Amino acid sequence: MHNLAIQKLALFITTLHSVLGADAPSKFPIPWDEAVVKAKTFVAQLNTSEKVGLVTGSYGSSRTLPCVGSIAAIERVGFNGLCLSDGPAGLGRSDGVSVFASGITVAATWDRRLMYERGRAIGEEFRAKGAHIHLGPSCGPMGRHGRGGRNWESFGPDPYLAGIAMNETIFGVQSVGVQATAKHYLGNEQETQRVATTAPDGSVIDAISANIDDRTLHELYIWPFADAIHAGTASVMCAYNRINGNYSCADSDTLTTILKDELAFPGYVMSDWDATKSTVGTANAGLDMEMPGNQTISGTYYFGDSLIGAVEAGTVTLDRLDDMATRVMTPYFRLGQDDGFPTPDPSSGGVFLTYIYGHESPLAGIYPAVPALDVRGDHAQGIRELGAAGTVLLKNLNGILPLRNKTSFGLFGNDLPDPALGSAYLVYGDDATGNEMGTLNIGGGSGTVRHTSLVSPLEAIRKKVQSLDGRMQWLFDNNEIADGRFRSIYPVPEVCLLFLKAFATEGIDRPDLDFQWNATRAVESTARLCPDTVVITHGPGVVLMPWANNENVTAILAAHYPGEETGNSITDVLWGSVEPSGRLPYSIPRTAADYGPPIVELPSNVTDSNAWQSNFVEGQLIDYRHFDANNDITPLYEFGFGLSYTTFKMGHNLTVEVVKSPLDPKADKRHGIAPGGLVDLWSITTTATIDVTNTGSRSGFAVPQLYVSLPQETTPRGTPLKVLRGFEKVHLAAGETQTITFSLKRRDLSYWDVNEKSWIIPDGTIGFAAGFSSKDLRAKAEVAVLL
Ligand SMILES: *[C@@H]1O[C@H](CO)[C@@H](O)[C@H](O)[C@H]1NC(C)=O
Ligand SMILES: *[C@@H]1O[C@H](CO)[C@@H](O)[C@H](O)[C@H]1NC(C)=O
Ligand SMILES: *[C@@H]1O[C@H](CO)[C@@H](O)[C@H](O)[C@H]1NC(C)=O
Ligand SMILES: *[C@@H]1O[C@H](CO)[C@@H](O)[C@H](O)[C@H]1NC(C)=O
Ligand SMILES: *[C@@H]1O[C@H](CO)[C@@H](O)[C@H](O)[C@H]1NC(C)=O
Ligand SMILES: *[C@@H]1O[C@H](CO)[C@@H](O)[C@H](O)[C@H]1NC(C)=O
Ligand SMILES: *[C@@H]1O[C@H](CO)[C@@H](O)[C@H](O)[C@H]1NC(C)=O
Ligand SMILES: *[C@@H]1O[C@H](CO)[C@@H](O)[C@H](O)[C@H]1NC(C)=O
Ligand SMILES: *[C@@H]1O[C@H](CO)[C@@H](O)[C@H](O)[C@H]1NC(C)=O
Repeated sequence: MHNLAIQKLALFITTLHSVLGADAPSKFPIPWDEAVVKAKTFVAQLNTSEKVGLVTGSYGSSRTLPCVGSIAAIERVGFNGLCLSDGPAGLGRSDGVSVFASGITVAATWDRRLMYERGRAIGEEFRAKGAHIHLGPSCGPMGRHGRGGRNWESFGPDPYLAGIAMNETIFGVQSVGVQATAKHYLGNEQETQRVATTAPDGSVIDAISANIDDRTLHELYIWPFADAIHAGTASVMCAYNRINGNYSCADSDTLTTILKDELAFPGYVMSDWDATKSTVGTANAGLDMEMPGNQTISGTYYFGDSLIGAVEAGTVTLDRLDDMATRVMTPYFRLGQDDGFPTPDPSSGGVFLTYIYGHESPLAGIYPAVPALDVRGDHAQGIRELGAAGTVLLKNLNGILPLRNKTSFGLFGNDLPDPALGSAYLVYGDDATGNEMGTLNIGGGSGTVRHTSLVSPLEAIRKKVQSLDGRMQWLFDNNEIADGRFRSIYPVPEVCLLFLKAFATEGIDRPDLDFQWNATRAVESTARLCPDTVVITHGPGVVLMPWANNENVTAILAAHYPGEETGNSITDVLWGSVEPSGRLPYSIPRTAADYGPPIVELPSNVTDSNAWQSNFVEGQLIDYRHFDANNDITPLYEFGFGLSYTTFKMGHNLTVEVVKSPLDPKADKRHGIAPGGLVDLWSITTTATIDVTNTGSRSGFAVPQLYVSLPQETTPRGTPLKVLRGFEKVHLAAGETQTITFSLKRRDLSYWDVNEKSWIIPDGTIGFAAGFSSKDLRAKAEVAVLL
């Protein structure tokens, strides 16, 4: 090792030590098999009800941890219990925590380092607050429907990009000894009817069933979960919905056959909150932990005493219970949580319960109203950086951006100022009613995070404009902007910045793909008066921009949900102290109908308990694969697209080399199986090399992308015309050229053969194309990988 590397390592260890505290274990993760041995030894000393306590949220405990879910302590053996918390963009329902960028923003960075660092910072806050288990990251929903209420929590509809974001996030979170939870497994693509409902006559109407064929599951929806398991995720959370007819948490095909056998997942499957619907069925299908168990507000849960009864009756074997308990304890030992993990901050529970039940509730008083531990550290800096890096420049005419020396600004839109409702309490799962005035930097539901700090766009821009000795005119009320009373402005600003927003939340799907609060009319009114209108959007992903081609909208920035430093992040990009370097992790369609399959919506009077069926007939053809397959519809802005303040060119010479030849078409079983599946699937088989040059006069970040086309002739129907299988984010100085090498794993060149139940590299020539977006392909090559 070079001296420099040793120095860096020493620095890394010192930093790690200061973060983890003196009591932290010196070495983790330990290998899975060693952790399994420790877990087995631990479980062997427990009686049945103690084992059941490990797999049932706070079973039998009158005093639970101040967490959204908890596993009770077993004092007899010195086990302090487990604290679980949302997830996935920071520590939910707490104070003194950071609001990190949402998953979709993270994906838009296409930056592995930032993905990892965010995961690590989230992990640090969990650890400092005494939360053992982070309920994230999420790659389900993927975003089959643009309107999906939770899409913003995940990393977008491309499995390769989402898989890399899962891997980096999990490595980051777990690097500080906090467990990650990959969720929601599986097919939780729509919020509408995600849980069962009761018909007026009292009968139960079952939750939506996502009906997905085996190949689509493997190549699309399960793909990023395989990355999560390969990365060592402690836990996988099963979902509310049904999958192919079975409730997700009771589906042995996906929980046991695929997750535990095929993908060799050694951790535990946890149910989403109240998603467990039976005792024997779920335990035998592969569910290992019921949440929140005894802490349920509904009053009904299925493990606990019922599971003891099932074990006594022999309908669930003692072996299976031992397996469940061992799986729960394995990541705990693997990540060294048995060695000096901080105790949960009691304020978290207080904030949570007070919020849910109100100050008067006796429950609110269970935890003392102690001041919250402030665990934010210097994380604001990284949040600011990531927020800027996840901002996508979609349009920039006449070099309007960066703003450089302009001094006269119009500031428009209700997404600029601090939220009028403030940050004094949390609006949980709200549908944005009442949230009209104020900036939006994270969505709603269990994935929201309470603001301890928030820098609004108004605050940051005002500071910037003051420093330039400039002036601002403003109008925040969208209805005033939209309705025609806004007819003149004096003096006409050099540039108008219009901030739009679109809210999304768990529990309900978005009503449409539009920006809210009369956004389209607000753009038109502003652009009528202001020939240089820059539109900045805060939204959950797929949106419509019917105004994109307005002649006076000279620039558009899609800033997603960037977290608490939102104002600083956007100011950095607007004035060019940071290059816009985000790329769309989804496509922006011209119309809602162009995007793909609709959400299933049935009238509220359905009486057939099995009425809610969502057939994924499009197979893998979602987002850009859908646009590729339908030549007649083109997106407004395509997957992978994003401008920069400089320009790039790509060489025409895409060199593809098969590094491991000859290959067997079928993945080789001789190398064994490890978390993530057959080891052979993860070996590098091919590399592709291309040159990228910065042709402009400023430095900037290029994101060269590699797409692979498996031959249509030698694969079954339904093979996408091309799929993303490589990307790199590179910083290039003006004039600089770099050679980019993409490394492709066996999995990247294979399709899932449903008859063989195997990944297979097809015969014939495989197409490779490098470019700057899914539509901007600059260099191609064709190679027969099988020789
Ligand atoms: C199991 O151990 C717990 C103490 O952790 C004890 O309270 C309980 O009675 C034991 N159950 C049985 C069946 O022995
Ligand atoms: C949870 O367990 C405690 C202690 O045994 C008990 O008092 C409480 O009723 C249980 N809650 C539910 C919902 O079963
Ligand atoms: C997963 O992330 C870790 C941490 O950044 C990295 O070292 C590793 O190469 C990644 N693995 C894959 C398969 O991308
Ligand atoms: C549904 O679950 C049952 C029991 O867990 C299992 O036998 C069956 O194969 C599953 N069906 C499907 C379609 O996955
Ligand atoms: C700003 O700079 C540009 C070129 O850098 C120049 O053309 C323009 O006149 C300047 N504007 C002001 C108001 O100084
Ligand atoms: C603005 O939107 C609200 C609903 O969001 C609607 O009631 C109102 O009529 C709209 N105003 C205009 C001018 O479109
Ligand atoms: C663009 O701005 C010019 C100059 O202010 C104005 O005359 C024109 O009508 C505007 N165009 C639109 C589409 O609003
Ligand atoms: C359900 O309501 C719809 C209107 O929403 C009506 O057309 C339909 O006839 C009703 N069906 C039943 C079975 O009542
Ligand atoms: C393409 O690149 C390869 C490897 O870098 C090189 O050997 C080859 O000569 C190049 N071909 C052309 C036409 O530039």
